Amino acid sequence: MTTQTLSEAKMTHHDLLKGQVAIVTGSGRGIGLAIARRLASAGAQAVITDITQEFADGGAKELTDKGMKAQGFICNVTDVQSIEKMAEDVMSKFGKIDILINNAGITRDTLIMRMKLEDWNAVIETNLTSVFKVTQSVVKNMSKANYGRIVNIASVIGMHGNFGQANYAASKAGVIALTKTIAKEYASKNITCNAIAPGFIDTAMTQKLKDDIKQKYMEFIPLKRFGQPEDVAEAAHYFCTGGSYVTGQVIVVDGGMFM
Ligand SMILES: NC(=O)c1ccc[n+]([C@@H]2O[C@H](COP(=O)([O-])OP(=O)(O)OC[C@H]3O[C@@H](n4cnc5c(N)ncnc54)[C@H](O)[C@@H]3O)[C@@H](O)[C@H]2O)c1
Repeated sequence: MTTQTLSEAKMTHHDLLKGQVAIVTGSGRGIGLAIARRLASAGAQAVITDITQEFADGGAKELTDKGMKAQGFICNVTDVQSIEKMAEDVMSKFGKIDILINNAGITRDTLIMRMKLEDWNAVIETNLTSVFKVTQSVVKNMSKANYGRIVNIASVIGMHGNFGQANYAASKAGVIALTKTIAKEYASKNITCNAIAPGFIDTAMTQKLKDDIKQKYMEFIPLKRFGQPEDVAEAAHYFCTGGSYVTGQVIVVDGGMFM
């Protein structure tokens, strides 16, 4: 048995990711910010990236105010130049990238009947093509270092489909298939890649839904509460700390909605 004291155990827990650099896309708020906070609370240097410098800095400030290590970088995940610049800046500032959380995402909900091609394209570009682009840009550094943890934020909708979300469902299903492919191609480089499929999480994305729709969702959630961004962050933390023999998997965080 170990003679470790409780305070030593706590210290170790807080230090699990000490010295590691974690990029989280779209982390100015919502689930991305909660993941960045969770990883930074375990000692990681959080790289908060979002579509504007202002959003990124806002998220970073929230963490640094709490004494965590965080810095904001602008990164539009639909723009290869913006991605490459962010990755280069992070490499020159911190020297490595251990963790990548592909989180940025949008919705443009409407029935197929009314969906414009631009609504389709915007969601596929932002939610799916972005994961390919950001991963491609970051994974080469992970490969050289022979270490990496990639976590992609998918959705239960990508496994089950949903009325009014053809574009979103297809993008998230694509993220799951891409996750498994990255896992296969990079396993030999000691890089794991997993996905999280959240259910209904209380963020700006779902706050815009009408009350009757929210009530309908609640009926199907056995745990009888909407998820919090921190519930998703806990799963991301698992993939980045433990779980070194787990790759190509999808963990559902949905209060039991789909089982
Ligand atoms: N909220 C939910 O119920 C739920 C459920 C399942 C999956 N998700 C997924 O979780 C992720 C985060 O969603 P959220 O609920 O926190 O939403 P959110 O709208 O609160 O946050 C999304 C973030 O992504 C950023 N973003 C949007 N477009 C971007 C771009 N082109 N480049 C960089 N950043 C961009 C936004 O500025 C914002 O900070 C998304 O991928 C979403 O699809 C959310």
